[in-house]
Amino acid sequence: MKTFTALLALFSAAGALAAGGATSQPRASLATVYSSCVNNKQAALTFDDGPYLWLNDISKFLVAAGGKGTFCFNGNNWACIYDTDSQNRVKYAYAHGHQLVSHTWSHPISIPVHNEMWRIEQALERIVGVSPAFMRPPYGNYNNLVLEVAKQRNQSVIMWDLDTGDSLGASVAQSEKVYSDAVAKNPRNILALNHETYSGTAETIVPYAIKLLQSKGYQLVTVAECLGGLAPYQWTAPPQTPDPSWTC
Ligand SMILES: *[C@@H]1O[C@H](CO)[C@@H](O)[C@H](O)[C@H]1NC(C)=O
Ligand SMILES: [Zn+2]
Repeated sequence: MKTFTALLALFSAAGALAAGGATSQPRASLATVYSSCVNNKQAALTFDDGPYLWLNDISKFLVAAGGKGTFCFNGNNWACIYDTDSQNRVKYAYAHGHQLVSHTWSHPISIPVHNEMWRIEQALERIVGVSPAFMRPPYGNYNNLVLEVAKQRNQSVIMWDLDTGDSLGASVAQSEKVYSDAVAKNPRNILALNHETYSGTAETIVPYAIKLLQSKGYQLVTVAECLGGLAPYQWTAPPQTPDPSWTC
């Protein structure tokens, strides 16, 4: 801790010198981190760790309610993204207008950055032809290195302001209470963390949250939309043709 404080003091001194006109290294620019939506009366439900078994059900509930969600995909976590079922789920989510976000290739606790980031981006470029403009770090863990690399990769980082706790062992009833407690406070907007890897989330919590949020007048939109209508992707192109190099 002492060393850290000393380092901080050194940094401030360097900053003061730079401000005084001395030459200094330009600071690397960092990706923007979003933890909340911007638009009023919008809720962005995000679903991490797929593509997995219950993606299509989550999509069906959202679409039936006239809504959209955001899927933060891994390449090789609960399933391999190049399995036929996984590829079909990615295509299904994209075809139904949900936003696709990078959640790194293998979901490491700390990101050995570029390596974890390009591989999932490549998978999304291959399967549906999109280059994601957003990434969500696994466990919400990031530091300046992650933000520098995300910036170099032209991505913003998305966190959340409501955690349903589904991946932390919360029961379905507890996750529902997270939503009802939040909505009772009339927030301007909600950016909620869910995981598509739990059947309770897909089959029970999602329909509950959709009904509750809509009854209070919240529109169910993608993260890019609730941030004021940002571009979800850096670019889009036709999907590519699978070949034997598409492996996990
Ligand atoms: C960076 O991403 C934005 C969308 O967030 C896109 O409009 C822009 O063209 C991208 N730049 C490059 C160099 O790909
Ligand atoms: Zn995750």
